[in-house]
Amino acid sequence: MKKVGLGIIGCGWAARDLYEPAFRFLKNGRIVAVMDIDESKARFLKELYNVPRCYTNLDEMLRDKEVDAVVVLTPPHHHLEPVVKSAEAGKHVYCEKPMAPTIEEADRMIEACRKSDVKFMIAFMKRFNRSFRFVKDLIDKGQLGSVFELRARWDNARVKRMPESQYRLKLISGGGFLQEDGSHALDICRWWLGEVEEINAYIAIVAPDRHETEDVACVTMKHKGGAISTLHITMITHRTGEESYELFGTKGTLVMRWLYHSSRSPEPALIHLYRNSREVQDLTLSSSWNPLQELRSNWQYLRELEHFCYCILHDVEPYCTGEDGRAVVEMVNAAYLSAWKNERIRLPLKKVPDLREFFTELRSRSPWSLGEIEWSSWY
Ligand SMILES: NC(=O)c1ccc[n+]([C@@H]2O[C@H](COP(=O)([O-])OP(=O)(O)OC[C@H]3O[C@@H](n4cnc5c(N)ncnc54)[C@H](O)[C@@H]3O)[C@@H](O)[C@H]2O)c1
Repeated sequence: MKKVGLGIIGCGWAARDLYEPAFRFLKNGRIVAVMDIDESKARFLKELYNVPRCYTNLDEMLRDKEVDAVVVLTPPHHHLEPVVKSAEAGKHVYCEKPMAPTIEEADRMIEACRKSDVKFMIAFMKRFNRSFRFVKDLIDKGQLGSVFELRARWDNARVKRMPESQYRLKLISGGGFLQEDGSHALDICRWWLGEVEEINAYIAIVAPDRHETEDVACVTMKHKGGAISTLHITMITHRTGEESYELFGTKGTLVMRWLYHSSRSPEPALIHLYRNSREVQDLTLSSSWNPLQELRSNWQYLRELEHFCYCILHDVEPYCTGEDGRAVVEMVNAAYLSAWKNERIRLPLKKVPDLREFFTELRSRSPWSLGEIEWSSWY
């Protein structure tokens, strides 16, 4: 079987931990090169995955003829350069979410990939999770009737001080927890219920002594078809990886939840469908006894990377496009703008002012502080 030659750009946590089963079990692609501006990280990954070559210079890696496509795993504010340069070098591009901090950067990426006629996929891995797909299918087949409301929740404790080297929760990355983690849930809201036309948000920094951007957010959206969705996310919580989606339709109410983090566990979600006030159906999918088997067949990061390679090999448009990534960037920016100006924001968003002023003000006005409080979290 022909395999796509992959070059990884950014050899940090995601490349090392999150993608490990994907990189090890991928069948239609193989890693031929890794690149990081930090040489020790690139070397570590080269050893870990037994990769032929490692680079610290992007241009050099892009001259590597065995690299057909790149997997961009740099921080969000460092996606632009690798995406644009890789496209210009004729490499297909797979880029982690959030696609970019601004719509302008997202547009430049889309344009570069379009001009070079390369595949461009944004890594919304939840769309490759079989529980999420199963629910999408139920909605599309009308099993819930007309869906008029979605309530999404993501509570994920990250209450240890971030190391200095971390980009997360820093102004430089262009956003906070909503941009970083919330992007996934915003994509699910749009994927399930369609385009969003209006956004209203409340955003807070509960730990201004350690975070420059938001650690709590509550976003309400109106979709074009009239449905409403809300997303509540917080990282200041004593729970870790609590994730749930409640869908309200004219024929049924569906509750989908994970006790622990859909991205970390190969276990399917608990799914219950309520009908006629009394009837409850357990629609939870089953899983294999063998955890390796489960990883090979259902690990969402593997499935999405396989899909990307498939699209290259068979000349198919990826399921999550640059436009999907851009739509979420727009939603995040609209939420920031709404919270800042205390206004409902209509999409498409014309222009987003520099949000530095907003975050700086939000931080200085925050009535809370965590001081020395820390508790254990996975991060
Ligand atoms: N889908 C998910 O579930 C998920 C989970 C975690 C992270 N992510 C995404 O993956 C990306 C990386 O996150 P992470 O946690 O690995 O970050 P990280 O900070 O651990 O790693 C980033 C790496 O990129 C390198 N880097 C920075 N600028 C670079 C450049 N210009 N060229 C080459 N290398 C550069 C850094 O040296 C570092 O090794 C982010 O976009 C993040 O949002 C996605």
